[in-house]
Amino acid sequence: MTGLLLTGQILLAQDKTINPGAIWPDSDGNHIQAHGGGIIKIKGTYFWYGEERRKGLDSNFRYVSCYSSTDLINWKFRNDVVKMSDPENLGKGWILERPKVFFNAETKKYVMYFHLDDVTYQYARVGIAISDRADGNFRFVKSLRPLGRPSRDIGQFIDDDGSAFLIFEDRELGFHIAQLSADYMNVEKEMCLIKMPLEGGALVHFEGLYYVIGSQLSGWAPNPNKYATSKTLTGPWTAFNDIAPPGSNTYQSQSTMMLKVVGTNATAVIFMADQWNPSHQSDSRYLWMPLEIGKGKLWLPKPQPWTIDLKEGAVKLVSKKQ
Ligand code: GAL
Repeated sequence: MTGLLLTGQILLAQDKTINPGAIWPDSDGNHIQAHGGGIIKIKGTYFWYGEERRKGLDSNFRYVSCYSSTDLINWKFRNDVVKMSDPENLGKGWILERPKVFFNAETKKYVMYFHLDDVTYQYARVGIAISDRADGNFRFVKSLRPLGRPSRDIGQFIDDDGSAFLIFEDRELGFHIAQLSADYMNVEKEMCLIKMPLEGGALVHFEGLYYVIGSQLSGWAPNPNKYATSKTLTGPWTAFNDIAPPGSNTYQSQSTMMLKVVGTNATAVIFMADQWNPSHQSDSRYLWMPLEIGKGKLWLPKPQPWTIDLKEGAVKLVSKKQ
């Protein structure tokens, strides 16, 4: 009995840790495929959407996966919510990257934004697809250039009052933070243009300050990601500073989102990033770590296993032996 119990406890301990950079098995035992992703919380459930890049996919299609979790640690594969064939005749090698889903409480629709491009990355538009359910299937509606500008990497941000924003990278100018229309089907209002060549945009509102993170423009290769802060989304923003020792190239990762978890005792902000493996994308990993954040400072601690109590909002770094 004791032996069994002990085994049970060990198994439980394993399931309670997030291991940055490691293979991350879903509830079927497959490495999670949700690259360049985004997360929304619907009632008590988190939905994680991302680029589905598992081996053996039909190369005529692009796929977006959806996983769900109630603890942010154990994820269940729900569906490939997008299986799309070239929607705008962009030709061989067309691109669907960095899908982000917003839930519109008025229309009750799930609205997905994604980077839509041709193989040369010159089309530079966002695609929009909608679904009645969180786990699909999403139907392509249209593409657009937000605010009339080219758009490559996108990020999503939902403020404390529920308003929804798209962050998009506009190579010549910098990157924009823009509010979506009431039905989320358009990018309506520029909040600010940050004149820095940054992508992989991520934003969080924490203790009265906005913190924005971006990576530099170096394709799949990691670089030192940077952050700035502002009291309002319209700026002015502070100068950009490193989020980690610059020599680590953000511990070989690139930002995709910051997730705020408000608990009864504390509020955690989780840095979600991709560790790309461009020649074996199905083996790209995730670097998720709770940030040290507050009073205008933000720092990504050295990656190590950690756990979170969602109710309390408390995070705990866990020694590797456990
Ligand atoms: C990165 C971008 C990725 C992907 C890649 C292609 O800069 O963040 O999403 O587009 O370039 O080289």
